[in-house]
Amino acid sequence: MSESNRLRIAIQKSGRLSKESLKLLKSCGVKFNINEQRLIAHADNMPIDLLRVRDDDIPGLVMDGVVDLGFIGENVLEEEQIEREMLGKPALFNKLRQLDFGACRLSLAVPNEFNYQDASSLEGLRIATSYPNLLRRYMQEKGISYRDCMLKGSVEVAPRAGLSDGICDLVSTGATLEANGLYETEVIYRSAACLIQSTQAQDPDKQALIDKILSRINGVVRAKE
Ligand code: PRP
Ligand code: ZN
Ligand code: MG
Repeated sequence: MSESNRLRIAIQKSGRLSKESLKLLKSCGVKFNINEQRLIAHADNMPIDLLRVRDDDIPGLVMDGVVDLGFIGENVLEEEQIEREMLGKPALFNKLRQLDFGACRLSLAVPNEFNYQDASSLEGLRIATSYPNLLRRYMQEKGISYRDCMLKGSVEVAPRAGLSDGICDLVSTGATLEANGLYETEVIYRSAACLIQSTQAQDPDKQALIDKILSRINGVVRAKE
């Protein structure tokens, strides 16, 4: 693998952040065509490569210096940070700015028939989640022990399927909870999208390009306010 002089930006391939991340880059004047089948999209008018990956992979790619910038949700970022701290792996990155999209909350939710008083109602019960580290930190602060049920997807169906008693998952409109006969009991983390940069040494040309993009993002976001 040779070091590329092109700026590498990781964005979510498909999901709640994809469209807005692409839109923001476009409004900063970065021109590209996305081929759904391709992992990489080369910008036409700037030395930029877009890497379209799973959102969970983005924090690690930035922290390992594989990519220069990443658009990511703070929840996924913090989950990976806690994971790496536990493993003694480096978890360094610079947060360039918070973005005005991707707002959601990580919440505890239980079936409608569950008689929930407070988080201690979950004592000893099983909770399904894709965010085991954020959940553990919250429950430890409350001094409540529970059992894990790690699921990367379909978390909302776990109670009905008899896999868990409750869930800890992302909520934005609440439609998914409602459709699955669950109700939100506690918000454990509030999140929005942000732009992060690798802390690995940048060559001056790349850094100048990053500065240019960041100042354009600031302009675009300010114009909307
Ligand atoms: C989250 C979450 C729910 C949905 C909630 O999934 O897991 O499925 O969003 O949104 P709502 O409250 O508006 O219904 P996400 O879109 O992050 O995708 P993923 O589960 O595939 O990562
Ligand atoms: Zn190579
Ligand atoms: Mg989902």
